[in-house]
Amino acid sequence: MVDAITFLKTRRSTPAKTLQSPVPARAEIEALLEIAARTPDHKKLEPWRFIVLSEAALKRLGPLVEARYDALGLPAEKREKTCSQFTDGLMAVAVIASPKPCDTIPEVEQTLSAGAVCLALLNGALASGWGANWLSGPMAFDRGFLAKGLGLEPQEFVAGFIHIATRGATPPERPRPNIPGITTWQNT
Ligand SMILES: Cc1cc2nc3c(=O)[nH]c(=O)nc-3n(C[C@H](O)[C@H](O)[C@H](O)COP(=O)(O)O)c2cc1C
Repeated sequence: MVDAITFLKTRRSTPAKTLQSPVPARAEIEALLEIAARTPDHKKLEPWRFIVLSEAALKRLGPLVEARYDALGLPAEKREKTCSQFTDGLMAVAVIASPKPCDTIPEVEQTLSAGAVCLALLNGALASGWGANWLSGPMAFDRGFLAKGLGLEPQEFVAGFIHIATRGATPPERPRPNIPGITTWQNT
């Protein structure tokens, strides 16, 4: 096992298409959810929750995704990519952004916390030796899919589908941001 700094300096998502069986067992997924929920959360609102989607559940959702994709009139060339996330998926955790009414914590902070949960889950899975990929796609925001497929409340949406399974070939590194180009220093 590499140390934490080496992991953070070298971590790399695994494209969902390259993920293979087996997927983590229930106890391993539960351990990853504990890691994911150990995330900054202003005022402990817990503005997120999890829906664990097995291969069978992803497949069951496939026809609904296809129907919603067509109903939304989305581009034909991206249909296969969107639908295969479900029809070919092996396991995914839907991290649900679930904002809570609060006078002091704006919704954007709650959404940021949900995004942080996604990264914690992704990194927890990668650090545990799994392959993992954070995907969204049009279904993450489509009310028709969210209500019927996942049973979400009107204020909820999918912050991320975190696909977790066995990694295949190591993906090539992708270009990383140029830090000086996006950083200013205020020293006085
Ligand atoms: C909120 C969010 C949604 C994403 N949705 C998709 C997606 O739907 N399809 C896709 O190909 N990549 C998507 N990505 C990008 C993948 O996660 C991509 O693999 C990632 O940029 C790899 O970064 P890494 O190697 O630093 O982990 C998304 C990323 C984020 C943060």
